[in-house]
Amino acid sequence: MLETTHFLDIDDLRTDELHAVLDRAAAVKSGADDTRLEDQTLGMLFEKPSTRTRISFETGMTQLGGHAIFLGPEDIQLGHGEPLSDTSRVLSRYVDVVMARLFEHADLVEIAEYAEVPVVNGLTNDAHPCQTLADLLTIREAFGGFDGVQAAWVGDGNNVGQSFVLGCAMAGLDLTVATPEDYGIDDDVLAHAAEYGGEPTVADTPEEAVADADVVYTDVWISMGQESQRHEKLAAFEGYQVNESLLDGTDAKVMHCLPAHRGEEISHDVLESDRALVWDQAENRLHAQKGLLVELLDE
Ligand code: CP
Ligand code: NVA
Repeated sequence: MLETTHFLDIDDLRTDELHAVLDRAAAVKSGADDTRLEDQTLGMLFEKPSTRTRISFETGMTQLGGHAIFLGPEDIQLGHGEPLSDTSRVLSRYVDVVMARLFEHADLVEIAEYAEVPVVNGLTNDAHPCQTLADLLTIREAFGGFDGVQAAWVGDGNNVGQSFVLGCAMAGLDLTVATPEDYGIDDDVLAHAAEYGGEPTVADTPEEAVADADVVYTDVWISMGQESQRHEKLAAFEGYQVNESLLDGTDAKVMHCLPAHRGEEISHDVLESDRALVWDQAENRLHAQKGLLVELLDE
């Protein structure tokens, strides 16, 4: 069992709990842990589209002996004016755990405030902690642990990047970040990472960030909901594409949470090369979330 009731960002876990969830995920993945969540139901609220999050949570609950219900914006009264607070209280009377993918992080916090069951963040504009669990599991598998591994974040400093910064700090993974001006990691997140003794090095250029990297991570430049910013963001991110030219002279592996936009933040060649850990990352969403659900719900 975890001390936290809700999993709204990666730092809701203590550092020892983060390692425990990763250990549990690895055990679930290998079949060594066959804990069941028999007859338990996950309610999945989505304000934005999803492939990995939706399918991995739903499949994970099925594999654990439970059930998941997809609740899209048009499917329930939330999309027609029923308040978050009411939705959360009512959901809590039916399901055993809620996962929500929302635009505003404050809305997720409000759901958690009113929920009588655990609430899990399936992505907000500020954080994507389930992705971070899968990312750390993937790095641990690829490099045999975190000690001595040098990671680089190249690109937008929003949800995926921010949870990754915190996760690296908690796991003791060295990280360098390169983000365009005005699209950096939030100062509060950097300060919080420093409290774990893991403030990332901020590089001036993508080249500087990847020079000594064992693994380079990027995410889309135009996140869901930012479509109107496309023109200005494409201009701001010029030179930040993860491609063979950037990685020339390094053996770095490459990570991406997916979906990828080939030709924008990552080149087709790199994504299709042996450098890419992206398919393992995607698979590990399933195992990491099963580990998390079992740690959250198993008594
Ligand atoms: N990485 C991720 O969260 O993917 P989806 O948007 O497909 O869920
Ligand atoms: N930063 C991306 C992540 C998608 C998983 C977005 O918010 O759209």
